[in-house]
Amino acid sequence: MTIKTELRILLSLFVFISLQNQSLNAQQKTIGQKVDSLMNLMTLEEKVGQLNQYNDDWEATGPVTNDKNKAEQIRDGQVGSILNCMGTARTRHWQSIAMQARLHIPLIFGQDVIHGYKTTFPIPLATSCSWDLAAIEAAERVAATETSASGIHWTFAPMVDVSRDPRWGRVMEGSGEDPYLGAKIAAARVKGFQGEKIGGVNSVLACAKHFAAYGLAIGGRDYNSVDMSDRLLWEVYLPPFKAAVDAGVRTFMTSFNDINGVPSTGNRELLHDILKEKWGFQGFVVSDWGAVGEMIKHGNVKNEYEAAECAINAGCDMDMESRCYKDNLSQLTKDGKVPLTEIDDAVSRVLSVKFELGLFDDPYKFCDPVREQRELNNPEHTAQARDMARKSIVLLKNENHLLPLTKNLKTIAFIGPLVKAVKQNNGFWDVSVPGIDSSFIVSQWQGLENKVGKLSKLLYAKGCDIEGTDKSGFDEAVTIARQADVVVMSIGERRDMTGEAKSRSDITIPGVQEDLVKAVMGTGKPVVVLINAGRPLVFNYLADHVPAILYTWWLGSEAGNAIADVLFGDYNPSAKLTISFPASIGQIPVFYSHFNTGRPAHDDNDRYYRSAYTDLSIYPKYEFGYGLSYTAFKYSNLKLSRNSMTANDTINVTVTVTNTGKYDGEEIVQLYFHDLVGSIVRPVNELKDFEKIKLQAGESKTVSFAIDVEKLSFYNRDLKWGAEPGEFELMIGASSRDIRLKDQFELIK
Ligand code: NOJ
Repeated sequence: MTIKTELRILLSLFVFISLQNQSLNAQQKTIGQKVDSLMNLMTLEEKVGQLNQYNDDWEATGPVTNDKNKAEQIRDGQVGSILNCMGTARTRHWQSIAMQARLHIPLIFGQDVIHGYKTTFPIPLATSCSWDLAAIEAAERVAATETSASGIHWTFAPMVDVSRDPRWGRVMEGSGEDPYLGAKIAAARVKGFQGEKIGGVNSVLACAKHFAAYGLAIGGRDYNSVDMSDRLLWEVYLPPFKAAVDAGVRTFMTSFNDINGVPSTGNRELLHDILKEKWGFQGFVVSDWGAVGEMIKHGNVKNEYEAAECAINAGCDMDMESRCYKDNLSQLTKDGKVPLTEIDDAVSRVLSVKFELGLFDDPYKFCDPVREQRELNNPEHTAQARDMARKSIVLLKNENHLLPLTKNLKTIAFIGPLVKAVKQNNGFWDVSVPGIDSSFIVSQWQGLENKVGKLSKLLYAKGCDIEGTDKSGFDEAVTIARQADVVVMSIGERRDMTGEAKSRSDITIPGVQEDLVKAVMGTGKPVVVLINAGRPLVFNYLADHVPAILYTWWLGSEAGNAIADVLFGDYNPSAKLTISFPASIGQIPVFYSHFNTGRPAHDDNDRYYRSAYTDLSIYPKYEFGYGLSYTAFKYSNLKLSRNSMTANDTINVTVTVTNTGKYDGEEIVQLYFHDLVGSIVRPVNELKDFEKIKLQAGESKTVSFAIDVEKLSFYNRDLKWGAEPGEFELMIGASSRDIRLKDQFELIK
């Protein structure tokens, strides 16, 4: 036996005994202590290994780096995480290889579960329109249950980027334009994914992304640079991230963009100073796909060595797919460019989460094929998806109460390229679960058949494609429309027209679909249009001429049933827009909480000297907070418990809301403020609270809000959070423009 062999045996014995001790003491030790003892055993290379995340071989959500020897690297302890690996069999396969590594450190598996796993929920922008925090949280619980049952520990969601530019394809993944609502929804989604406790078998790690300001990409072009003031960053773009931290989110993802010239993945101020120091974030930060290496193309580093140095020193703990950490971190540490303490901090963050998940006790904890089968076919999930889908549909127009339709119509014509589409209903970022076909998705046609197939005659014509100029199907569409009592038309985008790298400069309805509607309208029949899309589109002809419009977004697996429920009044629409719909592409960005300017755009006294367009109103076609119901609501009796307060007081606001129509319904009562005079200019109105209430026909309810100093605070001239004494206008509205009641109060010293 050589000395080398003897040494190796001794070392193995030492590791074995240490691991034994570790597991003996495991019960008593805190996670911090467990991490420390494990890190004492790790070589520098093994530590770096924990910071590498690789893609599995079968699905890619970014430019692929194919590693021929991935298994070998895992066995060598060079990989900490895998993404795009789905199913208990596949995750068990990679985990069993990780268990052959010297220290048996388990892998964590990550996946983009953006709006459901197998049971697909509406896209996040759609669910945000429900303003229903409990339902949103419950939907993410379902997603977490199915995801964890498939062996996956971590979802790359929620995306909490505020966005005010519908040209940007990723607008579909967020919660719209408002920081207050965005923050509430961010917290609800995090709680939904992570459940009561990380390590619970139905929970997955959430990931707040993309940190930060990704939603303000110049020109709405994905990945583009962002030029932003600190004020805008703090006031509008950071609040949902902060809310995610406060809700206990365990991971963050960096954004692809640079902010004012600094790529987020190498931005120490953002990742270290703000996130980890100021906000006290204890979890770990993963780069976006390849973003560490992409700094070379940004041009702030020369090569992969410098890219790795810049990212790890900034506080980016894990490298998704760029391989820069793998090839350079050890050397950088040896060269004194990266302090070992930075590596140790990153590794301990990753290991803590793995301990928390319980993977050291049982690396196959989430790999139970029986549970997988059960949860992927759980009928309760389907029911929840249907309910969430109904709550996400926005009624934009309903002239003469055309909707809801009665169930005894003799003939209904259902026309359009999306009527019989199946997979389209899932929208972008659905998870293609391996081995499962899409036959469980309920098409819109199927939904209508389920609802009234036995009561009415249903006629179908496609009419045209989503794109292209072919009008040869118009005649058939017009012919069946003539035979019908009512025509329902389903048009819109293709599902992959929004999403990552799907920015569009023209966001009108594609192809000849609007012409098809015009042709059908020519029959004089009552027409209801369903618009399917991942973003706000511009559709002025429809908005001005069609009597009834439902914006359905992409509703997921239960789309057909949910749409039928709304069309026939089994669900009274209650959703309200969380992003303004421009009247013209030239208006973008258009959002409700703008400043007045010195020459206010709405001031008609001098039309030549206003901050307005000469050819168009400044107002969007449909504003933030807008959405109709089959019933109507009256607001009355606004009362403030007092009209002045100090920083230690609270003002109670009450308002009575009455359902004056014939149907039971839900209303989202919105509270806005305008800080009339500030040391810096304040927006004309800002959402500060809301409540969604259910009212039976004829019923009244009192809604109360509490105003405290926190609600009046903002980042002052020196970027310090606080409230300034002075007068505030208080507005209660059914939307950001449909203000029903107003009052004023004062904050005094
Ligand atoms: C790139 C996307 O920007 C990000 O949101 C996603 O999580 C990763 N790819 C992984 O698929």
